[in-house]
Amino acid sequence: MFYALCNTSLAADMLGPSACESCHDDEYRTWEKTKHAKSEYFYEREDSQKMAQAMQLTDLDETRNVCWSCHYTVLTSDGETLPETGPACESCHAPASQWLAVHDCYGGDSAAACVQLNASDTDIKRTQETPAHKQWRYTERVKLGMLPANQIYNMATKCFQCHTISAERLVNVGQHSADKPFELVAWSQGELRHHFLRSSNNPPRSIEYQRVQYVIGQMVDLEYSLRALAKATSVGAFSQAMQQRIQAAASKLKAIQQRHNEAIITQVIQAYTHANLAPNQHTALLKVAEFISTQAQNFEREYAGKGARLVKLTDLLPTKMKANKPN
Ligand code: HEC
Ligand code: HEC
Ligand code: HEC
Ligand code: HEC
Repeated sequence: MFYALCNTSLAADMLGPSACESCHDDEYRTWEKTKHAKSEYFYEREDSQKMAQAMQLTDLDETRNVCWSCHYTVLTSDGETLPETGPACESCHAPASQWLAVHDCYGGDSAAACVQLNASDTDIKRTQETPAHKQWRYTERVKLGMLPANQIYNMATKCFQCHTISAERLVNVGQHSADKPFELVAWSQGELRHHFLRSSNNPPRSIEYQRVQYVIGQMVDLEYSLRALAKATSVGAFSQAMQQRIQAAASKLKAIQQRHNEAIITQVIQAYTHANLAPNQHTALLKVAEFISTQAQNFEREYAGKGARLVKLTDLLPTKMKANKPN
């Protein structure tokens, strides 16, 4: 038993949303109603089949590499890798095979001890946890790969990894859409919203939080569109869509800057202004993207919990959330 544990590979695998359901029932029910959950049948759609044909994806192996990373939660068992559902908990909160044992462990002092404790009758209850242990647990589960939900920048990079279609051939040959707008506040506070930890009625995040999230969302949009454009090798639908996304995010950042003069935002806009938005600019564009990444994280450090300072941005925030359903 113990040896088996030592032998587990360090690669973090997904466990699937059922591993979260027992404790996060409300979150699971909310997720089930989203397009993410329903995306699992996407491959049966006619437009998907056409796309695969155009790209000459003849077998599952090839399809796996091109479509699965964005459209599925992929599980590995007995050496076999298969799609389980659409994007789910771990697509955003990171694969849980390494961190789950620690996540709900209130007494153990190592991942191995937590596995044993969770399985034993002497399990320590959440209410019995010491403050020191809680601190250890929060740090440890991040070390083991979990993405805590309050890290706005890191969570946003997850969204944009899928929502920026960064594969040139997929767009130019497969004709996958690449120009669908994505705005972090509207898209995370609507159908996706699952805020049950503090209240069972799933309240939206405060307006102060949304202001910070809005600015970071624009910066990450700019960053990921630049990362995608960096991969462009020719002028075409792909490079044009990415240029448009870059310009759209930049003009939103300028509107932010006009209302709230902030050195971090000025630097981001300047970096964008000097960039050559053409294909085959791999190294130069990646450098700009890296710079914006650092600035977005600086912005979060400066403004997290201080959205009151961004009061002038209120009129920029979306009023209608993506597929916002009444509770
Ligand atoms: C055995 C119960 C249990 C299981 C299983 C469980 N959780 Fe949790 N989770 C909790 C509890 C309790 C909290 C409340 C805050 C705390 O004490 O960490 C929580 C909090 C969270 C948070 C918010 C805390 C933060 O710091 O961001 C996230 C995100 C989360 N869980 C994700 C997941 C995911 C994803 C899974 C499945 C892979 C999962 N949880 C499985 C019990 C569980
Ligand atoms: C980089 C991530 C990513 C990859 C790779 C990807 N998709 Fe998508 N796909 C998305 C996202 C995100 C959407 C939702 C777009 C929206 O509605 O904003 C989407 C939407 C779609 C749609 C709906 C119509 C459309 O074009 O918006 C189809 C069909 C589709 N994808 C098929 C595929 C197929 C087939 C593959 C593999 C050949 C694939 N996708 C690869 C992320 C991806
Ligand atoms: C693993 C890839 C992946 C990640 C990560 C991801 N998404 Fe998605 N998302 C998709 C795909 C694929 C679709 C399209 C589903 C479909 O229509 O079949 C989608 C659809 C959506 C939709 C519904 C869009 C519509 O047209 O109604 C919303 C809202 C959304 N995503 C928000 C988010 C947010 C916010 C994040 C980050 C917190 C995020 N997504 C992270 C892949 C992803
Ligand atoms: C598409 C991305 C995405 C998916 C899928 C997703 N989450 Fe989250 N989750 C987030 C984001 C983003 C936040 C932070 C919320 C915010 O900023 O408004 C969050 C917050 C949370 C929190 C803390 C909520 C609070 O009240 O503070 C928990 C717990 C959680 N998620 C668990 C889950 C579980 C369990 C699942 C699967 C059933 C899941 N999440 C699926 C992106 C996602």
